[in-house]
Amino acid sequence: MGEKPEKEAILRVEGVVKRFGGIVALDGVTMEIPKGSVTLLIGPNGSGKTTLVNVVSGFLSPEEGRVVFKGVDITGRSPHDISRLGLVRTFQIPKPFQRLTVLENVLSAVDGHPGENPFLAGILRGFWYGFEKRMAARAFEILGWVGLSHMWNRRANELSGGQMKLLEIARAIMKGAEMIIMDEPAAGVNPKLVGSIMERIRYLAREKGITFLIIEHRISLVKEYVDNVYAMSLGRVIASGSPDEVLNNPLVLESYLGG
Ligand SMILES: Nc1ncnc2c1ncn2[C@@H]1O[C@H](COP(=O)(O)OP(=O)(O)OP(=O)(O)O)[C@@H](O)[C@H]1O
Ligand SMILES: [Mg+2]
Repeated sequence: MGEKPEKEAILRVEGVVKRFGGIVALDGVTMEIPKGSVTLLIGPNGSGKTTLVNVVSGFLSPEEGRVVFKGVDITGRSPHDISRLGLVRTFQIPKPFQRLTVLENVLSAVDGHPGENPFLAGILRGFWYGFEKRMAARAFEILGWVGLSHMWNRRANELSGGQMKLLEIARAIMKGAEMIIMDEPAAGVNPKLVGSIMERIRYLAREKGITFLIIEHRISLVKEYVDNVYAMSLGRVIASGSPDEVLNNPLVLESYLGG
């Protein structure tokens, strides 16, 4: 009583086990991600980071354990279902989409767009125009959040590597993301620009309440922008807490040296 309540967890991973034949890729992983936080997931090659992301986002089913998002057990649900609940993983913009404009890329992230169905679009023409208008307004708003408003009419393939990452985030938010998972947002981005992407991510977490889980090998470039760090090794969580605590933990240092 009288104490500040702990930030509510938006995602809980409970005792997740995933095997590939004889390999135990995830060996009882438990995690709690607070709503509106930026969490960094680290660990040497093969420690299970991508497998964990695949289980959480529904691309793989675990043999044991549960994944709970916003209080809903999503274990084994399809990626599509999970994304509709608001847990969205970013992907590189596919080649054909890179020829579309930035705005078109954000608009095309919405599924269930009535324009996809010509029959419905015809009948609901009036509704459809209203829908288009609202969607365009929403897309512009989100482009403002990620700092790409001025680029709205440029083709995606004219963007820098860093701006492309911001566009991936904008697409995820347009889909309705409350939590965004990114595997290596700094890969292919000029080290000098990584900070500005991370600042945007922090802004989206603080001001818009969006939760981020980020896997990143370039730890030194991102650590000052994250709230929590989880470190994995050989399919297990070996440390969690503040960036300083985890990055100075002898077990974590050892896991990287152990190769
Ligand atoms: N589809 C698969 N089939 C068989 N083994 C797999 C498969 N996916 C991952 N593994 C194995 O599971 C373990 C964890 O791999 P994972 O890709 O999750 O690691 P990671 O932490 O993402 O590594 P990296 O930093 O290199 O991306 C490794 O031993 C890997 O070889
Ligand atoms: Mg990986």
